[in-house]
Amino acid sequence: MAIEHSSVKCSFVYSSCFLVLLVLNFSSAQLSANFYAKTCPKALYTIRNVVSNAVVKEHRMGASLLRLHFHDCFVNGCDASVLLDDTSSFTGEKGAGANVNSLRGFDVIDTVKTQLESICPGVVSCADILAVAARDSVVALGGPTWNVQLGRRDSTTASLDDANKVANIPSPAMDLSDIITVFTNKGFTTKEMVALLGSHTIGQARCLTFRNRVYNETLIDASFATSLKTNCPITLGDDNLTALDASSPILFDNGYFHNLVKNEGLLHSDQQLFSGGSTDSQVSAYRANFITFFVDFANAILKMGNLSPLTGNNGEIRTNCRKVN
Ligand code: HEM
Ligand SMILES: *[C@@H]1O[C@H](CO)[C@@H](O)[C@H](O)[C@H]1NC(C)=O
Ligand SMILES: *[C@@H]1O[C@H](CO)[C@@H](O)[C@H](O)[C@H]1NC(C)=O
Repeated sequence: MAIEHSSVKCSFVYSSCFLVLLVLNFSSAQLSANFYAKTCPKALYTIRNVVSNAVVKEHRMGASLLRLHFHDCFVNGCDASVLLDDTSSFTGEKGAGANVNSLRGFDVIDTVKTQLESICPGVVSCADILAVAARDSVVALGGPTWNVQLGRRDSTTASLDDANKVANIPSPAMDLSDIITVFTNKGFTTKEMVALLGSHTIGQARCLTFRNRVYNETLIDASFATSLKTNCPITLGDDNLTALDASSPILFDNGYFHNLVKNEGLLHSDQQLFSGGSTDSQVSAYRANFITFFVDFANAILKMGNLSPLTGNNGEIRTNCRKVN
């Protein structure tokens, strides 16, 4: 495999398509990789089994599960608050602007939870399921692997207001400086931010999230813009989907960074990473070397998974990920 080659090439999406197996260790004060070794030894196997079946059935599900973990962690920490349905005492995060008609994968998490409750009731948190499902999704789509840190507990509340804040979940209309501010405030370096945004090498976006870019912006390849207009007309088709990385939408590779250098980022926020600013050089580096992207991505996701977890006696282990016990 030539590293200077455009993207990672795989014959089979589900075969292990990277020559270097990247297993990273990360130490955390509170979480540990072997948290369920005694209390639920089959936990990781069970999650991987459900997730890989779901991704085989629908490739996009891998992207959707990765995004769930992100939207969980960036709103008051990785506490599975994103999974809670609305109740009489709070309005949950599912209805937030960035989530409504957009987040998916809740059924897959429910399937995992049901299976785990039958083999080790009350043990494995929904927040940990999200973190493991994100890793297993990336692996299923040909990306790097890492040792997920475990021991998070689940929140007993959720906040629509917090999920609606662009300081938590950034908007695709944001410029680079504002995106950097969001990630800096969450404790990430600009380099880690670029690696995390590489998640947009898989999955899809609705027309309404990139329409303004296609019709109004100049930092976009002209024929790329034209090609997007068919499926995303100027008024109708808000929910029509387009791949975030059209060259390899179901492969976790560095195709995203190749697109940015060609001015073919789908979202305004994506193209901001390669728009003559401070992140151009990092985009070029990840474009040139997918291994460094994989290593940095895995480390950055591990760090994301450490955002304010509930541990000890805080929170609970939900029986049903959609409801407080
Ligand atoms: C500036 C930061 C970010 C912005 C503005 C952003 C915005 C978006 C938007 C608008 C979509 C399409 C949603 C829709 O059409 O309903 C999307 C999809 C997605 N995002 Fe992000 N995102 C950001 C960062 C991230 C990060 C850090 C991750 C993961 C760690 C991530 C993972 C994904 C994935 C995997 C999808 C595809 C989901 C699917 O196909 O179901 N994004 N993002
Ligand atoms: C293009 O920009 C104008 C001015 O900001 C705006 O009114 C219009 O809705 C935009 N067009 C699209 C397709 O987003
Ligand atoms: C949405 O996409 C479908 C399938 O590509 C297409 O047939 C339909 O015309 C699109 N909707 C609009 C309003 O263009």
